Amino acid sequence: MTTPRPHTRNAFRIAASIALASLAAPAVADPFPGADLAVAKQMHAAQCVECHAKRFGGEDGSEIYTRFDRRVTTPSGLAQQLTACTTMLNLDLFPEDEHHLAGYLNTHYYKFQ
Ligand code: HEC
Repeated sequence: MTTPRPHTRNAFRIAASIALASLAAPAVADPFPGADLAVAKQMHAAQCVECHAKRFGGEDGSEIYTRFDRRVTTPSGLAQQLTACTTMLNLDLFPEDEHHLAGYLNTHYYKFQ
């Protein structure tokens, strides 16, 4: 039986602690890192604005995100509400797309950190 060489084990440990550290992300971190805001802007305009604007007003459909009794109050809540809409619509978006959209909405409206 071979035991891993010490430096391999250390590398593992370092990788594991980085992974853990990013799970327990500090409050200042971007909750949707790497979201492609340009892609999201297009998807949002094409697939989300019309219905939101019709139901909640705001020329750009943003009233739904900024109304005082909006539903979303946390980053995970944002991801959930967003998924609720895309599921209801049968949009079948890739998780990356939902991530981009969440980052976009967060950057412009929710501003969670
Ligand atoms: C066919 C209509 C419709 C479309 C299209 C739609 N939504 Fe929604 N969405 C709603 C309704 C209705 C609500 C409000 C749900 C409630 O308040 O119970 C909502 C709420 C939301 C919320 C929560 C807002 C809050 O209160 O904080 C988010 C986020 C959201 N939608 C994201 C999206 C995204 C992203 C898309 C496009 C991919 C999208 N929606 C497309 C109907 C729609």
